[in-house]
Amino acid sequence: MADTEHRIAAHYGGGDLYGRILDALAKDGVTRDQITSGHLKPIDEFHIGGLEATEALLADLFIGPATRVLDAGCGIGGAARFIAGRYGAQVTGLDLTPDFVATARSLTALTGQQVTFVEGSALDMPFADDSFDLVTLLHVGMNLPDKPRFFREAARVLAPGGRLAVYDVMRHGAHPDFPLPWAETPDHSFLDTPQTYLDAAQAAVLTLTARADRGEVARAFFARMQAQLADHGPRPLGLPMLMGPTAAEKAANMARAVNAGDIEPIAMTFRPG
Ligand SMILES: C[S@@+](CC[C@H](N)C(=O)[O-])C[C@H]1O[C@@H](n2cnc3c(N)ncnc32)[C@H](O)[C@@H]1O
Repeated sequence: MADTEHRIAAHYGGGDLYGRILDALAKDGVTRDQITSGHLKPIDEFHIGGLEATEALLADLFIGPATRVLDAGCGIGGAARFIAGRYGAQVTGLDLTPDFVATARSLTALTGQQVTFVEGSALDMPFADDSFDLVTLLHVGMNLPDKPRFFREAARVLAPGGRLAVYDVMRHGAHPDFPLPWAETPDHSFLDTPQTYLDAAQAAVLTLTARADRGEVARAFFARMQAQLADHGPRPLGLPMLMGPTAAEKAANMARAVNAGDIEPIAMTFRPG
């Protein structure tokens, strides 16, 4: 693993996450044998808009039981479990952070689903050419220093007729203040402009088929989060558990940049050719 990748895995990993998730659910009155993938939604969709954003990204992609899906940078496996559950697809999750992969496996065993999780990098995917019909990337690009390399890898593992669906935070203006959910410090933040993504896709011979700029979704998401915090305080189970002791500062820095229009989550879908 490259130095940057070590730092990124260290940023996300640490501290018996699976045990803490079980404890948090128990505080909400959900015992281990009752846990379904639905109970995990407050924590296992680690991107702006949560499950609704995942559903919107996937809506027009014709996923079915025969679709081989790779969720690159799958985190603790929320989107991967959702795709397997909703569409019956054959799903593989790939992630750099060993703690996240271990947690994804344990949670999936608990919900009784069939999803394969692999440790590795989206910049050097441990899969043969033409292995997948759909590659998804949700809020991972901000940690990828080399966008052209990611798009080349995605194009390589996609079978003819496949699709790549990206939902990343992209940059229009000033860089937000640190810390951020994906980086404590500047050395592992690689926020790029939408044009950088489009150029990298074009170089990998991937054609844009749809784009949705989701600034409004993001502003509503952070406003809702702040209102919930003000009304009820932090819930036992939630995204702050994935963001460490500076979680509140990270969320505030991101919300400020979203509200200023400096960053925006953008969905882009591509097809080979
Ligand atoms: C903000 S989280 C998003 C997780 C997940 N996609 C989701 O939406 O819930 C970013 C994830 O990207 C992973 N990641 C960062 N760089 C990566 C790389 N080069 N290859 C694979 N995963 C990577 C991190 O380990 C982390 O799980």
